[in-house]
Amino acid sequence: MTVLVTGGAGYIGSHMTYGLVDRGEKVVVLDNLSTGVRSLISEQATFVAGDVSDQSLVRRLMREHDIDAVIHFAGSIVVPESVEQPLRYYANNTVASRALIESCVEEGVRNFVFSSTAAVYGIPDASMVTEQTPKEPINPYGRSKLMTEWMLQDAAKAHDFHYVALRYFNVAGADPKGRTGQSTPRATHLIKRACQAALGRVPALDIFGTDYPTPDGTGVRDYIHVSDLIAAHLLALDALRAGTKAEIFNCGYGRGLSVREIIKAVEKVTGHPLPVREGARRAGDPPMLVADSAKLKRTLCWTPKYDDINIIVSSAYAWEKRFNS
Ligand code: UFG
Repeated sequence: MTVLVTGGAGYIGSHMTYGLVDRGEKVVVLDNLSTGVRSLISEQATFVAGDVSDQSLVRRLMREHDIDAVIHFAGSIVVPESVEQPLRYYANNTVASRALIESCVEEGVRNFVFSSTAAVYGIPDASMVTEQTPKEPINPYGRSKLMTEWMLQDAAKAHDFHYVALRYFNVAGADPKGRTGQSTPRATHLIKRACQAALGRVPALDIFGTDYPTPDGTGVRDYIHVSDLIAAHLLALDALRAGTKAEIFNCGYGRGLSVREIIKAVEKVTGHPLPVREGARRAGDPPMLVADSAKLKRTLCWTPKYDDINIIVSSAYAWEKRFNS
């Protein structure tokens, strides 16, 4: 039994690979290195450079390595970029995933864990988002991921094919052992940008909007430590191997933090005031996104270990000091 991790040289995929090899799994990483970083891949994994849409390559890997499960991270993830280049997002996310799912069905690889996103909910009415909250994505990124969820759902009904889709809220932090972290070039994520500002690598942190209908006027998000997210993937993989057919779970802690609260946490960790600039809202940003992850806790017995913003920020900052991207 071997797990194929697509996008395993990326931020979350590289943590996944460590999470798997740490528990003795055999892993093949498939990544085209368009944004991934080769050195972040565990040396215990087999690395193959290539695209998930290359069906002859993927099917050969599945046969040669006796793949029993795929964990699919490869794709494009920057929301504003998806608005500017929608067709690229539909190609890299939706079309490539279709080819990968088809390769699984053809080769009898029946366990599939999919990296989905809270962006499928768009701007939800509810302050806590459950899996039942209406899916009304407001950008091509969210739509490209929702379409992949639909393909998985339909494929699981038609074939001997099982999947778990995990809808991530705001993933942050780094491997507690310091082996990997957020290394995406031109990162736009708040905690990464705040750490870069704290280290003087960008002049200041921009606060995108101070007039939201939130307690302090800034955007509220549910920041989840990447290691807790990886734990959810391992549980999903175990559930699939034990016969789970089709499930979708929100991944977050169920508590919202504002941009200003993140700034305070960064200042606490670094011991210095953070240079900030208050600016206009960023296009497409919902005011508030907080996960109700009761289903994940109840069904997969997920128990978060790093539900503390100081731990999240400290690990992100420690990584940023070491990795100058
Ligand atoms: N923000 C700033 N300044 C920055 C960066 C972000 O003020 O430099 C604010 C944003 O406006 C938002 C919050 O910080 O209120 C979080 O923004 P991020 O860019 O860190 O993350 P997003 O919430 O925009 O995006 C995340 C995931 C996406 C996913 C989305 C779902 O990264 O993949 O949640 O809405 F699609």
